[in-house]
Amino acid sequence: MTDSKKHLGFETRAIREGTMRSSFGEHSEALYLSSSFVFDDAEEAARRFQNIEPGMVYSRFTNPSVQMFEQRLASLEEAEDCVATASGMSAILAVCLGLLKSGDEIVTTGSLFGATIQLFDNFMVKFGLSIKYVDLTKPEEWQAAIGPATKLFYLETPSNPLTQLGDLQAIGAIARNAGVITVVDNCFCTPAIQQPLRFPIDLVLHSATKYIDGQGRVLGGAVAGPKALVDHVRAVVRTCGPSMSAFNAWVLHRSMETLALRMKAHSESALALATWLEQHPSVSRVFYPGLPSHPQHALAMRQQSSGGAIVSFELKANDEVQAQERAFQLVNAVNIFSRTGNLGDTRSIITHPASTTHGRISEEARARAGIRQSLIRLAVGLENIEDLKADLSQGL
Ligand SMILES: Cc1ncc(COP(=O)(O)O)c(C=O)c1O
Repeated sequence: MTDSKKHLGFETRAIREGTMRSSFGEHSEALYLSSSFVFDDAEEAARRFQNIEPGMVYSRFTNPSVQMFEQRLASLEEAEDCVATASGMSAILAVCLGLLKSGDEIVTTGSLFGATIQLFDNFMVKFGLSIKYVDLTKPEEWQAAIGPATKLFYLETPSNPLTQLGDLQAIGAIARNAGVITVVDNCFCTPAIQQPLRFPIDLVLHSATKYIDGQGRVLGGAVAGPKALVDHVRAVVRTCGPSMSAFNAWVLHRSMETLALRMKAHSESALALATWLEQHPSVSRVFYPGLPSHPQHALAMRQQSSGGAIVSFELKANDEVQAQERAFQLVNAVNIFSRTGNLGDTRSIITHPASTTHGRISEEARARAGIRQSLIRLAVGLENIEDLKADLSQGL
């Protein structure tokens, strides 16, 4: 964040940070669709290429629209620096490539987005990294897992889809003591609800595809934190090319202006829906950090300003076969909720994680993540809450 704007509130920085004006003086930031940029002379080209002089070179690693997005998100996460990527998954890949080498170990948790588990288990291991899984909710397991090769702690909090929490203070402190880098995927909360860098956490990671966009339009990702660490990730983006497109950056830059308002409204509706589902006779259990019944509610209220937009619940069933039947029936019966795998949209979304987002991971990994056939995930959107209740009600 720029020093001159540090004192400003979140909502102001979301609108006023990260702006660059061209010589035309446009009020609304321009979209810079240009693959490369011209130099005044050969000397300037040399200085720009060698990073001796700031300025634009080539849009794989420098583009004004992308830089505006990076500066604004860095400000909201209270980070020194931020690098944008093509998607959330490429942000995770760039972190691994930039900070780790063969022989290093990642300590993480089964309570992760399915593709992240696949990236670790199917790809990173091919390059000589080892992965150790611990319980997200038990800091003592993170402590016990640290060995001589441990270089990175990787976690999501709240986790997808069971909304389990990792204790940012406790897990971060354990890592700091051991010289381990901690990365937190903050895409469920966004900085409007949780700012991991206020805890002993090194890097924050985003799938900007989710609530940063908030309207289901574009893919994007980002990694924010101290410049010394972000530089390693930026080098991967520059050399390997998982860069954010200027168009996507322009869309996402604009989206952040309404982030605080949207997250507040998402959270209010999610809490109302979670409270209502808890009373429903067809529902056996609701997972939502904003509910007093959530086993980590007190922790949620310490590190988040609200519960967020994701509500998961289990349907009552006698066995896994019946559970899947009932879950499919509900997913098929809704008329307003969208049947899609994404989350983080104005439109409410219903998902059956065991057969979709977490359908390609092994049975064992699914069990480790606690994802059963009876589980339904809702990403609560911004429609009228009574309409959402009525839609679920007829399906249940
Ligand atoms: C928690 C979490 N992290 C990362 C990702 C990956 O992001 P992307 O789809 O932008 O690659 C997702 C996507 O659903 C996610 O839910």
